[in-house]
Amino acid sequence: MDGTTLRAWAPSLGASVPTQDPRCYANDPSLRKNPKLRQPHEMVGSLKFLGAFLRNRKQVGAVLPSSPLLAKAMVRALGDIEPGKLIIELGPGTGAFTKRIVDAYPNNPIMMVEFTESFVPPLQARFPQTTVVNGCASELSKHISDHGYTVDQVGGLISGLPLLSMPQQLRDGVWNSIAEILPANSLYIQFTYSKRAWRKFQIPHMDLEPTKRVLLNVPPAVVLPFRRRAG
Ligand SMILES: C[S@@+](CC[C@H](N)C(=O)[O-])C[C@H]1O[C@@H](n2cnc3c(N)ncnc32)[C@H](O)[C@@H]1O
Repeated sequence: MDGTTLRAWAPSLGASVPTQDPRCYANDPSLRKNPKLRQPHEMVGSLKFLGAFLRNRKQVGAVLPSSPLLAKAMVRALGDIEPGKLIIELGPGTGAFTKRIVDAYPNNPIMMVEFTESFVPPLQARFPQTTVVNGCASELSKHISDHGYTVDQVGGLISGLPLLSMPQQLRDGVWNSIAEILPANSLYIQFTYSKRAWRKFQIPHMDLEPTKRVLLNVPPAVVLPFRRRAG
């Protein structure tokens, strides 16, 4: 983790997010227990609140951006994608995976969907060749058509979303949205800090392929490659 990345990430702890999408957290009653945590990411703007963030990981799901080694493993898991096919990244944050995606797939359009508004302008400035959507990952078909792509174009998807800490309704919405746009046999690559926690889920229309553990990440992570079933 380099200092620049950490500095870029830290202000996000206090970033406010758009709340107009009811499927993106706004209706989650658990966020209303503490008025300071009413909205996701609306936590605090300085490191002195880092402790509060650590106790309430639900909204962001991580303290630090992913390591270069996790980024490498995630992008490698995506494998070969036909030139011209659309690659979608969910929850790019400060772009820990994006640089690798852009470098590995120079002949593919890339669309990112990021809910935290403050991440969007820096991502778009750093990766001008990509499309950065400020929106919710549960509305992928809408984002695809709103930005001039078609679902037929989708070639693969990488997610940094904190799915385990999301409200169940939103998590299910994200998975249904992914299943809706991902063609049969294409890959959805997710990482997790707890492979065990994922055993209780049935991801709609997905089969889990062999996973890869990445120890050099804070915390250590596991890459979960899911392949879209036909039908
Ligand atoms: C754990 S961070 C991962 C960031 C980056 N991919 C990495 O690995 O360092 C999760 C990211 O998902 C974003 N996010 C959370 N919920 C989202 C949603 N419903 N739709 C889109 N992005 C979301 C957060 O704003 C945050 O940037």
